[in-house]
Amino acid sequence: MSTYIIANWKMNPATLAEAKRLAVGVKKALGKEKRATVVVCPPFPYLATVAPELKSSTVALGVQDISAEPKGAYTGQVSASMLTSWKTRYAIVGHSERRALGETNEHVAAKARTSLDSNVSPIVCVGETERTEDGTYYTFVAEEVRALLALLKRKDLKNVIIAYEPVWAIGKSAEEAMSPDALFEMQLFIRKLVTEKFGRPAAAELAILYGGAVKHDNAAEFMRAGGVQGLLVGSASLDTKEFAAIVAAAVAPQGKPEKALGKK
Ligand code: PGA
Repeated sequence: MSTYIIANWKMNPATLAEAKRLAVGVKKALGKEKRATVVVCPPFPYLATVAPELKSSTVALGVQDISAEPKGAYTGQVSASMLTSWKTRYAIVGHSERRALGETNEHVAAKARTSLDSNVSPIVCVGETERTEDGTYYTFVAEEVRALLALLKRKDLKNVIIAYEPVWAIGKSAEEAMSPDALFEMQLFIRKLVTEKFGRPAAAELAILYGGAVKHDNAAEFMRAGGVQGLLVGSASLDTKEFAAIVAAAVAPQGKPEKALGKK
């Protein structure tokens, strides 16, 4: 299975010229990267400019949201099939910043379904808003994952990516990120939920990523000790050097992250 490093630019950068510069920077730094599938998700209005910049590179293009409806009278929404014009193969759905606007688990699952039906791989975000001693965050995440699984078929699993993003870690410093040990437990839990429904071999085909305060100095540890197949990067993806260092750290051979970061 590939390692996925996804850049979520969110509502950044402020201008088209900056978006173009960022795309050119990513292409220069990572355009030949084959050890990981690097996906850049800019805001919709920048797609037409970013797409040609990434065309002759290994960097793939994604979006930050998609409509749950395939077509029709839905003001302000973008359908999955529209994305094929830009060869967009990935769509983040259910990011916590969208769930905060009222998207339910069922709505997010419907977006993932529509996305799959248009041959776009959904990157489905799940994650608790807070961690309390009583462990209710497991129930919270289980409900999000089960709503998704309810709309999936076994053959979908190789095209679905689940990004576990504890909401309390998003936008924080590296020190405030989740511990790799806690991440290891959660990714096991998510994979167990998938195994319960589809069996072990099918569950093994699903990629689980981590997101929330990922930086170049914690990326390797999330990959090695956290047991995930990739990372979803927010703010750090707006700095090309930092983002390239995250990719290098994530794909570094086990036990040698320093070398990938260019340190002695
Ligand atoms: P962050 O955001 O890397 O800035 O914490 C991650 C995300 O929201 O996907």
